Amino acid sequence: MSLPLERAHQLIENIYTAVLVFDKDLRLTHINTAGENLLSLSQRKISGQHLVDILPAAGNFAETVERSLLSKQPYMEWGMNLDLPNARSVIVDCTMTPWLVNDQCKEVIVEMVDAHSYAKVLREENLTNLHEAARKSLQGMAHEIKNPLGGLRGAAQLLEQELKGNELVEYTQIIINEADRLRNLVDKMISPNGKQYPVDANIHEVLEYVLNLVDAEESDSLNVVRDYDPSLPVIKADREQLIQAFLNVIRNAVQAIDEDGQITLRSRIIRRTTIRQHYYKIAVQVEVIDNGPGVPEEIEGGIFYPMVTGRAEGTGLGLSIAQSLIQSHGGIIEYERVDDRTVFRILLPIEYRND
Ligand SMILES: Nc1ncnc2c1ncn2[C@@H]1O[C@H](COP(=O)(O)OP(=O)(O)OP(=O)(O)O)[C@@H](O)[C@H]1O
Ligand SMILES: [Mg+2]
Repeated sequence: MSLPLERAHQLIENIYTAVLVFDKDLRLTHINTAGENLLSLSQRKISGQHLVDILPAAGNFAETVERSLLSKQPYMEWGMNLDLPNARSVIVDCTMTPWLVNDQCKEVIVEMVDAHSYAKVLREENLTNLHEAARKSLQGMAHEIKNPLGGLRGAAQLLEQELKGNELVEYTQIIINEADRLRNLVDKMISPNGKQYPVDANIHEVLEYVLNLVDAEESDSLNVVRDYDPSLPVIKADREQLIQAFLNVIRNAVQAIDEDGQITLRSRIIRRTTIRQHYYKIAVQVEVIDNGPGVPEEIEGGIFYPMVTGRAEGTGLGLSIAQSLIQSHGGIIEYERVDDRTVFRILLPIEYRND
């Protein structure tokens, strides 16, 4: 039974792969939304146009589509570089399948996958698995430290009572204070362990709240550029945990810049994307950008691991905790250095599955 054309278009409309359909004269008859997104072209503008007019700089591509049409054979091309009209280019893996009716080739269906997406999956998987393993072993260790620490502090207190004002109290005070400091550190290592209480969270409200907190910590007022997308939807999230995660990332940016430094907070809606192998129709992206010197090269690969720090007074837990919190919301944090700017990119689905 053949599928009515309208239904066929509906089906390809909803798939993640970019699909373009050309007739036997190489004129575009259909492109789905994933295709429009990948090529940054709209169906309305290019429908009926010749392939060479749509992608003028894609010689190799046009040849392969034509070859598939004439030979009535499917073709695959890996790592094909498509120069797009808007001076961008994408590298795609492509499959061309001729659509035969009564042995006549009516149309060619072109499927395209962004070749970078596989690399992205691998990168995200790495971040997730290794990071989780490192955090688990650290949490185990932290529990082991916590118990004797209580005993140590208790013994120092008893000793202090015995000393009854003797000048040696100075030493028991050091033991007690240092035990308290270690306990705070250990608590930070163990958290976040709290249950989540998801509510409708407004990301801009969370960012403003965090900015207020870090602004209060600084003596000079911060130079912050807000590049917010006003149409950003609310997301289902635990507000407190989001605050903690953004606080850790934004505080790092504040610590990285000097008095002339600038921080940009940029929010955007991302459509049809995969985050850690889950496909989402809509996700939210927040970039925390600063013009400081960037992460020191020697720790660049490990900043999301616990205890990795480039600052003398740092504990190296901030990003590891932020990553855990964002990941438990189905999201991810990535670091990139772009045009002399430090970019921490936080991706969050609108609603996440707890699996
Ligand atoms: N925006 C940034 N610019 C430059 N380096 C950064 C930035 N954010 C993080 N880093 C580097 O990554 C390291 C790890 O950051 P992380 O927040 O995990 O730990 P920390 O800031 O050292 O300590 P804390 O536990 O107090 O947050 C930092 O020490 C710093 O060297
Ligand atoms: Mg930090």
